[in-house]
Amino acid sequence: MRIGVDYYPEHWDRALWAADADLMQETGVELVRLAEFAWCRLEPQDGVFDFAWLDEAVALFAERGIDVVLCTPTSCPPMWLYEKHPDIVQIQQDGTPIRLGIRGHRCVTNPTFLEYADRITVEMARHYAGNPAVTGWQIDNELEAYHCCCPHCTEEYRAWLTAKYGTVENLNRAYGNVVWSGEYSAWSQVAPPVGTYPHAWLNPARMLDFYRFCSDSVIDFINRQAALLRKHCPGRPVTTNVWFCEYMQDFYKTFENLDFLSYDNYPSATVPANSEECYSHAFHLDLMRGVKRGPFFIMEQLSGGTGCWGPMGRQPLPGMIKGFTLQSFAHGADAVLHFRWRTATVGAEMHWHGLLDHSNVPGRRFREFADLCSAVREIKPLRDTAIKSDVAILMAFDHEYAFKIQPQTNGYYYLEQLQRLHRAFTALGLNVDIIGQHEDLSGYRIVCAPEMYVTDSAVVERLHRFAESGGTVILTTRSGVKDEHNNCIMAQLPGPYRDMVGAHAEEYNPIGYDSTPIVFDDGAVMDARQWCDILVCDTANVLARYNAEYYKGSPAITRNAYGTGKVYYIGVVGTQPVYDRIARTAADEAGLDTVELPDRVELVTRTGDGVRARFVFNNDDQPKAFALDGREVALEPFEMKVLTD
Ligand code: GAL
Repeated sequence: MRIGVDYYPEHWDRALWAADADLMQETGVELVRLAEFAWCRLEPQDGVFDFAWLDEAVALFAERGIDVVLCTPTSCPPMWLYEKHPDIVQIQQDGTPIRLGIRGHRCVTNPTFLEYADRITVEMARHYAGNPAVTGWQIDNELEAYHCCCPHCTEEYRAWLTAKYGTVENLNRAYGNVVWSGEYSAWSQVAPPVGTYPHAWLNPARMLDFYRFCSDSVIDFINRQAALLRKHCPGRPVTTNVWFCEYMQDFYKTFENLDFLSYDNYPSATVPANSEECYSHAFHLDLMRGVKRGPFFIMEQLSGGTGCWGPMGRQPLPGMIKGFTLQSFAHGADAVLHFRWRTATVGAEMHWHGLLDHSNVPGRRFREFADLCSAVREIKPLRDTAIKSDVAILMAFDHEYAFKIQPQTNGYYYLEQLQRLHRAFTALGLNVDIIGQHEDLSGYRIVCAPEMYVTDSAVVERLHRFAESGGTVILTTRSGVKDEHNNCIMAQLPGPYRDMVGAHAEEYNPIGYDSTPIVFDDGAVMDARQWCDILVCDTANVLARYNAEYYKGSPAITRNAYGTGKVYYIGVVGTQPVYDRIARTAADEAGLDTVELPDRVELVTRTGDGVRARFVFNNDDQPKAFALDGREVALEPFEMKVLTD
């Protein structure tokens, strides 16, 4: 558990470097990340390399016992490279090249770009191979599954499809290209979906493959960089930093060949009025831990008010800088690096605030950061304790992509049901893992499999076996809808899950922004929104029925005994109380050890070597007092306490 910062020596007068490093050392910083945007200083002219300035910076940190994570600077090719090879930029879907001026313009399949990217990476890797201060590598910065439509991506896309389908006839069949006379008669007709019309008009099967291809092609770039780093700078762990963006690459595949995951964490500095949203940071952290099922880095963490991409936002409230970082450690982070040490005085991001303000005078946020560094020293002995969870939630990028391609109904968002289920189980004080849908399920008692939209028969099979042998599965609406190509399956929903659910949908009603009441067997009335599966039970029992509409009285939520296990089916998109109720019922039935927690208080339990550590976090701007394990606990706003026994 280490605290770090993101530092840009190339942005500052050299006279500041030593003083910055001194203050970092004095404050307790153990790690700095350098150079992700510094290509123009590392290779000021084609083939002319200058590492002297970076050597000097690395040495300043090394002398003070601060480790360095170096980055490959490929996110920002220098201007001389764009001038020489203007074709290395991405081509957008409207057919125009991305305009220079920000960063991340390069196309990661362009052979000229790759040649230059390889060269700078190899030069850096060789140069730092003998420098023990460099303890790890970050590849590029916040790479995405770019939807580039340049000629190279077009070629790669055709090659990817040829490898998958062999012939255009197979491709036509898989996509159902007969619709609107879309059948290809030669590979030369196959191209990325250019044009500015909405995705919804395009063939969903074609689009899903395009999303998959875009993800694979950025992952190829990452793997190519990783191979070079490992060859020329062996023995240093390699990562890349991801975030929740519009076009996310498949995180599970991205990190298969990397040593650890890194995530950029920018919790909102505004306390949400709706308490459900408070749990979203925990959701994201649990999701990141689940990708490699282990500790991860936060490469960028909120340090001050945001700005530059829009008008400036509020400063983090007192307690947030410390609290959100400790929350990250509780959920499995092994290092948290704050973005950024000092607020830039130049460039586009001069209003995105770092720990130090433009004045360079340590203020309130910096003092809280210093306090955080001391607090982390105290929890370090708990570093190797494990987060064991009885509850898992499955996630897959195929579903994320397919729902983006075809929005189901107004207000419907894939991750929302995952988040609601996560919130429901964490509110019971349970650890929750969010894992890839292909992961092994053994060891879990409850597996939530929400919105299993694009069907993978191996996953269907594994869920059947899990329930059959005594596990609890919670399935939801929009499951079993599509086959692996994103075409509809001709079966009553939930298609391949019907036997384990013990019920089927006779019809569904996408109600969008409307809501409709459902009533539970004890008379409790709650709301369904966005989606209603009008169910008929085969063998299942009814837990809730619709209380309005033409399907009043029809089952909305069911539970079925399957093998020695149980299968819940939530046929609606519910408001939070619906998931809270199902989570409570399923947890009690599975005999899980739940606790009562006040709203907005989160608990992570970590265990190891005869220790049980309860990390309790107040994710609110109001103090909380409550009892836990027979002890009175009082928490200030955003305070975390660790209770051990
Ligand atoms: C991140 C990015 C950083 C910086 C930060 C604040 O997404 O990786 O380089 O731009 O946002 O805007």
